[in-house]
Amino acid sequence: MKGSTSRRKFLGQVGGASLLLAAGSLKSLASEKSASHSFPFKSISPNNKIRVATIGMGIMGNSDTDTAIKVPGVELAAVCDLYTGRLARAKEKYGNQIYTTRDYREILNRKDIDAVIIATSDHWHARIAIDALNSGKAVYCEKPVVQKISDGLPVIAAQKKTGKPMQVGSQRVSSIVYRKAKELYKTGAIGQLNCVEASFDRQDALGAWEYTMPTDGSSTTVDWDRYIEGMPKMPWDPKKFFWWRNYRDFGTGVAGDLFVHLLSGVHLLTDSIGPKTIFASGQLCYWKDGRDVPDIMTGIMQYPETKEHPAFQLMLRVNFVSGQGDKGITRFVGSEGVIEMLDNGFKISHSIMSKAPGIGGWDSFDTYPKAMQAELMKQYNQKYTADQQKRPQVADFNYTAPEGYDEHLEHFKNFFDGVRDNKPLVEGPEFAFRAAAPTLACNDSYFQKKIINWDPVNMKVV
Ligand SMILES: NC(=O)c1ccc[n+]([C@@H]2O[C@H](COP(=O)([O-])OP(=O)(O)OC[C@H]3O[C@@H](n4cnc5c(N)ncnc54)[C@H](O)[C@@H]3O)[C@@H](O)[C@H]2O)c1
Repeated sequence: MKGSTSRRKFLGQVGGASLLLAAGSLKSLASEKSASHSFPFKSISPNNKIRVATIGMGIMGNSDTDTAIKVPGVELAAVCDLYTGRLARAKEKYGNQIYTTRDYREILNRKDIDAVIIATSDHWHARIAIDALNSGKAVYCEKPVVQKISDGLPVIAAQKKTGKPMQVGSQRVSSIVYRKAKELYKTGAIGQLNCVEASFDRQDALGAWEYTMPTDGSSTTVDWDRYIEGMPKMPWDPKKFFWWRNYRDFGTGVAGDLFVHLLSGVHLLTDSIGPKTIFASGQLCYWKDGRDVPDIMTGIMQYPETKEHPAFQLMLRVNFVSGQGDKGITRFVGSEGVIEMLDNGFKISHSIMSKAPGIGGWDSFDTYPKAMQAELMKQYNQKYTADQQKRPQVADFNYTAPEGYDEHLEHFKNFFDGVRDNKPLVEGPEFAFRAAAPTLACNDSYFQKKIINWDPVNMKVV
């Protein structure tokens, strides 16, 4: 794989990894970036096709399906959705030969289907994933892998018991951008990591999860009873179906929905298995459309020191009514610099302390008598050389993914390599649960008004 060649080359150049030396190497990595990625698609014989079915054919089900069938040798056989309009649309898009149903069990009973994509509302992920694994299907399940923390270990156990490939859909985990950032982070490019800051700002109805409703949504065109199966009976409510993210019964709030992407990226970059303490605060500020989740939320998580990484703090924020407009920020802050993730790349900037502590300026120095100031300055200059009094300078570094690069496609390619050739998957259910559980704990912290203690090794609330 070309990526690992680049990594070896880079590590070889950096050697003992002094920051100043690293700066030169950053430049050389930049010059090789365009050659660093390609899709080594194999040619697939016609009888070696992987037949997939998508369960949940909404926005992400469509996006996942369109991406999955770009991978050579992958064919869409069936789709399942609870709303008939989405089944009709699937036939329009993919052809009349596509089998459609409102009952996912029919999909799991079919012998001609090798893998399922689960892109339903969050509350169905665990149930369908476990049923699919037990039916012998490979599973690509959208994030967050589970809606409730209590469902995490059963999903992991089902995957282990069946041995079937399972990938979770935080495509960032396959991103070449995160993998390049990780290479540089591991060489000490920002010194010692101590903090990660991330925020999502949005400022419109679609961003706040009020998606366009169909003209014919009703309890006839939607299998509402199936949708609420296992819950206390409740009357048909189009908002609870088409805007499900806004309700705790069906979604996971801003934390489960959005923070989970951030944690997936952070865990990938740092090789972390998760935080120990989790606290969240929030409010419902603007989108008072009946939702029972906040539209502004901040989560703070404390990651303990492990052999993989130093102790660091993670601060996450979502604001759905932000006067900053639509804006996303993720910054890894270390003692000597910052990695800032951008839309299609990242930037590393540096600020390094001088060896000397400094004297004068906003200091008590000027409050002392003149003669004492002269003596203090003489002593300071004797103790520290001119170089030690300066901040070392390291040039910024920018990385942009190759033109046309698609992390979503890369994530599916990795999944189908696992299905076809048993290759390791980048985002199995354990990795996914370790990223999802702390974000779900943010909701528990917010609603129960308490700090949640998490055991990241055993994946349990303590
Ligand atoms: N990886 C990403 O970047 C990303 C982006 C967006 C959404 N997602 C995830 O994808 C999932 C779907 O989100 P969306 O925006 O597409 O939602 P959506 O509302 O557009 O679609 C969800 C669909 O699931 C169907 N559904 C619900 N329960 C079902 C069941 N039991 N059987 C069959 N179909 C069922 C609904 O009929 C609906 O059409 C969510 O879990 C979300 O978190 C991931």
